[in-house]
Amino acid sequence: MTRTPVNVTVTGAAGQIGYALLFRIASGHLLGADVPVKLRLLEIPQGVKAAEGTAMELDDCAFPLLKGIDIFDDPNQGFEGANVALLVGARPRTKGMERGDLLAANGGIFKPQGKAINDHAADDIKVLVVGNPANTNALIAQAAAPDVPAERFTAMTRLDHNRALSQLAAKTGASVEDIKRLTIWGNHSATQYPDVFHAEIAGKNAAEVVDDQAWLADTFIPTVAKRGAAIIEARGASSAASAANAAIDHVHTWVNGTAEGDWTSMGVPSDGSYGVPEGLISSFPVTTKDGKYEIVQGLEINDFSRARIDASVQELAEERDAVRELGLI
Ligand code: NAD
Ligand code: LMR
Repeated sequence: MTRTPVNVTVTGAAGQIGYALLFRIASGHLLGADVPVKLRLLEIPQGVKAAEGTAMELDDCAFPLLKGIDIFDDPNQGFEGANVALLVGARPRTKGMERGDLLAANGGIFKPQGKAINDHAADDIKVLVVGNPANTNALIAQAAAPDVPAERFTAMTRLDHNRALSQLAAKTGASVEDIKRLTIWGNHSATQYPDVFHAEIAGKNAAEVVDDQAWLADTFIPTVAKRGAAIIEARGASSAASAANAAIDHVHTWVNGTAEGDWTSMGVPSDGSYGVPEGLISSFPVTTKDGKYEIVQGLEINDFSRARIDASVQELAEERDAVRELGLI
């Protein structure tokens, strides 16, 4: 049976994450090895030529699943008929820029993109925001798309989740695939909280296997939370291939489901679970099935975790208040 291609819109297509992402989407890693895709690349006018070069390279790969590539500098066209949208392009923080300036500059990108999604995307649109500040950019886009169910707007914390898996595996000598039920809570920022208290390593409680609260507090949490800055320091540019890999993981899991007995981390609009104010786009433990996700319920939150979740959620609330004051939501 011939399947209808899935339209995947990628913004910031000519950037470094875009370059690491597009070839994997086209080769079937985003949606599945039997799912044809059409790529819609959205750039600003200055990025269009480089996106055309990437499109030439995509052609040169002769990917059997890639059924078309179109390039746009108009969001209304870029999101036309989109089933999946990866919002990667964003305004980076530059020297001397205050947080308010950064939020305002990104509001100028994510508000019109949210409206274009509202007006032009397919009814089943799923949105992943990667561009930073990812959670609040997702909130801005979602607020501009009142006709799209709010839960279709998500923000990426899968890179943090993968970083935490890798650090925990290195500490305990386990394989990453033996680690289940790890959680990133809160914001994709230095306040995020990687939680191992519900995680299991080869069936045993991870916190008990580690048995070292000082390591958790002083090494594990800051290493994961500040990894983005450490990569920028080492590479001279922010993480690209690992960010693209996490974006692939996020959408693949959303569409294809979590494994029995496991969960993942996604930034999703809060329904009030775990005391996170409703509407904030915060990272939670989620299970996914049949293209839908659910926040894992009923976890006991100890005092160590509570204080850290609250601090990150407080930062999200402040970002929300700042964009509200700027009239962006
Ligand atoms: P980059 O500067 O290499 O590329 C960004 C691209 O976006 C550029 O080609 C630019 O022309 C384009 N762009 C800017 N405004 C646009 C708009 N309005 N519409 C369409 N395209 C637009 O940056 P990068 O390294 O690819 O990173 C992209 C974003 O992802 C950054 O905000 C970065 O901080 C963020 N990031 C997030 C995570 C995460 O875990 N959530 C991880 C790594 C990076
Ligand atoms: C990352 O986590 O690697 C990025 O979000 C860092 C950044 O500021 O771009």
